[in-house]
Amino acid sequence: MQPNQEKFISLVKEKNKGKNLKYSILTMGCQLNENDSEKIAGMLDEMGYIEIDNYKEADLVIFNTCCVRENAEERLFGKIGEIKKIKESKNVILAIGGCMMQEKNMVNKIKKSYPFVNLIFGTHTMQNLPENIYKAIIKQEKVRDILDIDGEIFEGLPIKRNNEYKASVTIMYGCNNFCTYCIVPYVRGRERSREPEKILEEIKGLAKEGYKEITLLGQNVNSYKGNEKIKNFADLLNEVCKIDGIERVNFISPHPKDFTDDVIEAIANNEKISRIIHLPLQSGNTKVLKEMNRKYTKEQYLSLVDKMKERIPNLVLSTDIIVGFPGETEEEFEDTLDVVKKVNFEQVFMFIYSIREGTVAAEREDQIPEEIKHKRFDKLKELYESRVDENNEKYLNTVQKLLIEGKSKNNENMLEGRTTTNKVVIFNSNEKNKIGDIVSVKITEAHRWYLKGEIV
Ligand code: 5AD
Ligand code: SF4
Repeated sequence: MQPNQEKFISLVKEKNKGKNLKYSILTMGCQLNENDSEKIAGMLDEMGYIEIDNYKEADLVIFNTCCVRENAEERLFGKIGEIKKIKESKNVILAIGGCMMQEKNMVNKIKKSYPFVNLIFGTHTMQNLPENIYKAIIKQEKVRDILDIDGEIFEGLPIKRNNEYKASVTIMYGCNNFCTYCIVPYVRGRERSREPEKILEEIKGLAKEGYKEITLLGQNVNSYKGNEKIKNFADLLNEVCKIDGIERVNFISPHPKDFTDDVIEAIANNEKISRIIHLPLQSGNTKVLKEMNRKYTKEQYLSLVDKMKERIPNLVLSTDIIVGFPGETEEEFEDTLDVVKKVNFEQVFMFIYSIREGTVAAEREDQIPEEIKHKRFDKLKELYESRVDENNEKYLNTVQKLLIEGKSKNNENMLEGRTTTNKVVIFNSNEKNKIGDIVSVKITEAHRWYLKGEIV
């Protein structure tokens, strides 16, 4: 953390003394945003604010925005409207940050249509939050702190984690891929990797605090670049797995084009790495993939999956798919269904293509009509859901290692944990079992969205 920000933390804290001021953060979007929100919360706690869940009761409201898909914008405007109403009767500070604030047209729209917003900050200026809050509350300025160029990496921001045994650790920022549908490279800038030693130090600290599960985050984790000693993503994975106390390691998201053999080896050799790998497909058609600038073909994706499954027993995959990319024909969409059938993904995150202004695909004139996009979405969903039961039944009578996450949400007397493939399992609790423990459980029942088991 920069020393001048420490100064502003103290100034705001002094000003807030005895006032019992509350803040609330509403996070939209991906796990990278969740991780940024944990850092925002860390800074606000140090400034003497108290976190509450209901943003309608807060004195300081932060919206951490996402712009990957269109509906996020409508949602944000709705929320701003709610705060406007509250502001009429109460002094509320409204701060909006995150990816959407890196889009010029969005910032202009907020400046013009929502001038009551106190503070706008981008993804590269989050670390200036103490100074910006100071300006907004003490000097009552309207603050707009956005940097167009890639920000530096700021280490050592305070962080308030929202889980006691699972933690996310950002290993790299930005993206260089420019998939033609995606706004991320424009709002998060170019790839910048954190120093491996800093990452390992953070994870060792988490292990000491009792964290068991780590998720390494980045837009494209397998293009991580380290240094002489820990050169790449495979090296980093191997080092993270050596840390005592960490029992499970996940990462999101890798890019199929960068899924090198050394990463496959690292997974195969380290049991701590989850046996569910997220491998975004986006489309199963080679022509569409080319137009998306994904840099792999249908066949290359399928042979990568075969290679991974061969080398890593019990591996399952999850994926992201976009339906209705401009120009996508019914036949081309069928290729996506074909890949879904062949790979038999355990989880599919499905998205309807949405135009992102400023991206290459947004300029295309052959946009797919909404109703066709929705029809394809439904067809994909139906196929995916038709496989869920079958996939769950494969677990019956197997013994799974679970990381205990807590009490079952539906049954006080049962505990809930997740397999290394991210399946929720509920089982009879035993006095000795605690959150964060790893236990062996035999699966006795398969339900659609969870499994049931018994401790063995
Ligand atoms: N429209 C629909 N889905 C998108 N994604 C990214 N950009 C778009 C877009 N313009 C999806 C991709 C990505 C996930 C995080 O969001 O599938 O992997
Ligand atoms: Fe977007 Fe593609 Fe980068 Fe992922 S890899 S963030 S989809 S441009």
